[in-house]
Amino acid sequence: MITKEKELPILRVGKHQPKYPIVQGGMGVMISGPRLAGTVAAEGGIGTLASVGLGVLTEGYNAKNFAQRNSEMLRKYIKQAKDAAMGGVLAVNCMCALCDYESLVRTSCEAGADIIVSGAGLPLKLPELTDGFPDVALVPIVSSLKAANIIISRWKKHYDRFPDGIVVETPNTAGGHLGARDIEQAIDPALSLEVVVPALVDYLKENEMDIPVIAAGGIWDSSDISDAFAMGAKGVQLGTRFAATEEGDASDRFKQSYIDAKEEDVVLINSPCGLPGRAINSPMVKRYLAGIQERMPCRTPCLTHCICRIKHETFCIADALVSAYRGDWENGLFFCGSNVSKVTSIMKVKDLIHELLEGFKIPEIGLPSVS
Ligand SMILES: Cc1cc2nc3c(=O)[nH]c(=O)nc-3n(C[C@H](O)[C@H](O)[C@H](O)COP(=O)(O)O)c2cc1C
Repeated sequence: MITKEKELPILRVGKHQPKYPIVQGGMGVMISGPRLAGTVAAEGGIGTLASVGLGVLTEGYNAKNFAQRNSEMLRKYIKQAKDAAMGGVLAVNCMCALCDYESLVRTSCEAGADIIVSGAGLPLKLPELTDGFPDVALVPIVSSLKAANIIISRWKKHYDRFPDGIVVETPNTAGGHLGARDIEQAIDPALSLEVVVPALVDYLKENEMDIPVIAAGGIWDSSDISDAFAMGAKGVQLGTRFAATEEGDASDRFKQSYIDAKEEDVVLINSPCGLPGRAINSPMVKRYLAGIQERMPCRTPCLTHCICRIKHETFCIADALVSAYRGDWENGLFFCGSNVSKVTSIMKVKDLIHELLEGFKIPEIGLPSVS
């Protein structure tokens, strides 16, 4: 029996069109660095560089120089990623919750990012911050129709501009910080992709807004991708699977933690920034959940709202994420999606994208990007 190949939607984000509607989500600190983002872009997806805390890895990083250091490293990594991308589409992920958010957004534009993807808060001022860079596409991340509506209304009223795409990331399954007020809301089925994606697609259609919706969270294989397209999404964003690729910028020990993780090892925790997060139950997380306080001096004011800095509670998120990136199992916070237990080996980005596209008709365009 011959099975009919399924059509891939065309994902056009502002002036940028990757060959495939597959987005590698931004993952900080340095989990999606220039190597991963550049390779995904070169292989025909959208590669996303995570901009958070890049200066932490430099000598002498401190409260006075942190924003400048972060910006310098971001500029350097964007150049490296663009060189590796060979004309493919490169996005930069900028989190609203960061103290140096505005500086990271400006640096991304100046250094040649094609797209800015922005979440962990509502990016209400993003059009203003990117003024003067009309070719840079702007993509908010939301977890509900309500959040999308607020952003669209605000941008229209103040800037006469619409988002060039919207990522719907469900807190039910996604890795990293989650768009929910607490752990209870993070698992609320009302915020599932099945509910939010069709509702947003309908809302955009009813209001004659031609904005592509990108579904994120818990997407594992081509069948999940088909389901997301059937809901009306024009693209899909994956994090966990790309973190565990050969080209992923994290240490081998970070990737091994994904291979070793079992379903019951995935937990939800309250992060110092006030959002819930999904992570592996590493020794550091176990200590935190058992109420053991690890007092460390706050080196830099990285988050606008940080319970660790303000109340000396929780833990230092910058240290915990950098420890994970380096592969320090005892002290690291290993963010992951709910599907992490399905990771059994480290694949090449090219093979992963190939696997994700199984059963789909591959478009005939040669270049990854036709911007
Ligand atoms: C290790 C890790 C770090 C992440 N860091 C960020 C980040 O810095 N900014 C952000 O917007 N999303 C972040 N995310 C979310 C991803 O970009 C992506 O949307 C999400 O992981 C999709 O869910 P999946 O992992 O089930 O595919 C992170 C996810 C992981 C697994």
